[in-house]
Amino acid sequence: MRKHALIDTLALTLLCMAIPERGSAQDAIDAGKTVWAGVYSAAQAEQGKSAYQASCGPCHKEDLSGYESILKGDRFMEHWREDTLLSFFTTMKSTMPRDAPGSLNESVYVDIAAFILQGNGFPSGPAPLRKDDLPGIRVQGKSGPSELPTGALAQLVGCLVKGPKGEWTLTLANPPQRTRNPSDSNPQELKLLDASPLGTRTYGLMDAIQYRPDSKEGHKVEAKGFLIRDPGNDRINLTSLQTITAGCGR
Ligand code: HEC
Repeated sequence: MRKHALIDTLALTLLCMAIPERGSAQDAIDAGKTVWAGVYSAAQAEQGKSAYQASCGPCHKEDLSGYESILKGDRFMEHWREDTLLSFFTTMKSTMPRDAPGSLNESVYVDIAAFILQGNGFPSGPAPLRKDDLPGIRVQGKSGPSELPTGALAQLVGCLVKGPKGEWTLTLANPPQRTRNPSDSNPQELKLLDASPLGTRTYGLMDAIQYRPDSKEGHKVEAKGFLIRDPGNDRINLTSLQTITAGCGR
C-alpha cells in the first residue's frame, strides 16, 4: 500500500465523519440485495449521465476515467465493495463536486449514482434507484463477498491480548467489516457489538500504546483502523480501540 493512498483515504474519511451513519453494512448483508440485482433503470442512468457530465465530468472525465479511474473498475470496487450503496452516496453527496459539495438536489445525486453503477457494468433493472433503497443494497464483486483489501478502514471485534514481547494482538477476532468512521463508536454501537460472537482470527495492532491498551487487557474490544493484509502477519493500523466488555468469555 502506498503511504499517500492511505493518507488520501484517511482525509476523505475525516471529511465524511460529520455525517451520521444511517444503515450499516450489516443491514445490507441481512437484506442480501446487491448491485447485481438490477437496482437502477436505464432511463435513470441516462438522466444521471447528463448531470454527471455537467457537474463531475470536467474533473472525473466523461468516461469516469479521471484520477486513475477512481470511479471505475478495480479502484471503484476496492473503495466501495463490502459496503452499502449508502456509504458511496453519502461520500459523494457530502464531498462532491469538490468545488461545491452538496450543491445538487438529492435526486440528482441518486441519478448520478445510477450512471456510475452503469459505467461499472452493473445491470439495469425495471425500476429506478431511490434514496431509501441505498442502505439495503450491497456493493459486491461478481463472484460474491470477499475479504476487505489492504488499506480499507475496518472494524474488528476480538480479545485484546499482550504478547511476550509486549506486542498487542487481537485474538478470536471476527472477519474485518468495512466502516467509514475511524473514531470511537458510541455506547449504543458498542452495546450492539456486545451481542456479536467472537471469531477465530488474529490481528496485530500497530501503535496500540497510544490507546491505553493496559487498561483493556483481556477485554472484548472493538478495534478500528487501516487493514494491512499480510498472510501470517495480518494487522491493523489503529485509529480507535475501545472496550466492549471487560473479560472475553468463551
Ligand atoms: C473540481 C474537481 C471535481 C469535481 C467537479 C468533482 N470531483 Fe469527485 N473528486 C475529485 C478529486 C480530486 C477526488 C479525489 C481523487 C483521489 O483521491 O485520487 C474526488 C473523489 C471523488 C469520489 C471518491 C472516490 C473514492 O473512491 O474515494 C467520488 C465518489 C467522487 N469524487 C464523485 C464525484 C461526483 C459524483 C461528482 C459530480 C457530482 C464529482 N465527484 C465532482 C475532484 C472533483
